[in-house]
Amino acid sequence: MTKPYKAGIIGTGSTLPETKLTNLQLEHIVETTDEWIMKRTGIRERCILDKEVPLAKLAADAAAKAIEDAGITAADIDLIIATTVTPDYLTPSLACCVQKEIQAARAAAFDLNAACTGFIYALQVAQEFIKNGTYKHILIVSAEALSRVTDYEDRKTCVLFGDGAGAVVVSAVSQEYGIEASIIGAKGEDGGVLTIPCCYWNDEDLEKRNEGKVQVIWMDGSEVFTFASRIMAESTEQVLEKSGLTPQDIQFVFPHQANIRILQNAAKRLGLSMDKIYSNLEYTGNISSASIPVCLDEAAQKKLLKKGDKLVLVAFGGGLTYGAVTITWSKN
Ligand code: UT7
Repeated sequence: MTKPYKAGIIGTGSTLPETKLTNLQLEHIVETTDEWIMKRTGIRERCILDKEVPLAKLAADAAAKAIEDAGITAADIDLIIATTVTPDYLTPSLACCVQKEIQAARAAAFDLNAACTGFIYALQVAQEFIKNGTYKHILIVSAEALSRVTDYEDRKTCVLFGDGAGAVVVSAVSQEYGIEASIIGAKGEDGGVLTIPCCYWNDEDLEKRNEGKVQVIWMDGSEVFTFASRIMAESTEQVLEKSGLTPQDIQFVFPHQANIRILQNAAKRLGLSMDKIYSNLEYTGNISSASIPVCLDEAAQKKLLKKGDKLVLVAFGGGLTYGAVTITWSKN
């Protein structure tokens, strides 16, 4: 019997908006300080998408870069999976808008919402389609404009979030490379600790928010923090075990970029030094599902990744959701 195909990342791309919102600027917007934000989160600045630019434009830009990096054309893409919690429209989906922008005429397209874990969920879905031979080239584009659902009168959340887009092309790779194992999971019973109402809200949702603000992020930061610190380490351990690897086999962990203290806690629990934990959140803030593909593209651009490197990608987020992937890097 022939072995199923293995799925790997053959191209990466990312785009961050040029407009920056710094901690010093935030000091004039809410009662906060650069010192508090740096010490409690590790974030110095975040990127903000201009109001008149659709998110689809940013997403398409990152997607086009990933397709070029993969050495294929948009016409080769069979499926587009877009991950986002801030689509321009509920319909057409972000994936369909990207399809139109990049002219990937043959591609099927749908959105996937697993909040900050969206990219990991999408990788798992893409992997299944590649492994069973249904599709040859799948574009995952993770794009977020969290500034559009942030309450800039709520200092507990507005210092955290930013905008950006990252994309990858997932295709069949030879057996010694690609995705080794993955896990995804959810704890819907705890979903109320991080919410963004869309087409429905109740009195409790209104009470939690500042008056006149409805479709904005509300978060119980310390509950999410506790969940995140535990689940990042547990998910990493589980996916390593599933792939027969130990933390020492790993060249880099690419974690969801939410708070430097969460990354430090996870590294400590895993017995890893911080130089193995890739982080860019100082200059991006938390860009939800876009954070891991943006980091991957940055690391690839900086030539930090070598063919054969073992990587862990791990995320947690609203839902609550979580997931992790081990991957043997297949690009030079
Ligand atoms: O992508 C997934 C979603 N998000 C996350 O992963 C975020 C997870 N949570 C966190 O990163 C942290 O919980 C936060 C950064 C949100 C908050 O940090 P913390 O160390 O847990 O602070 P805290 O909520 O316990 O608040 C401590 C104090 C409070 O003052 P009092 O009540 O002790 O007087 C807050 O009002 O810090 C105050 N505070 C601030 N002070 C200055 C909260 N936000 C700010 C602020 N500037 N921006």
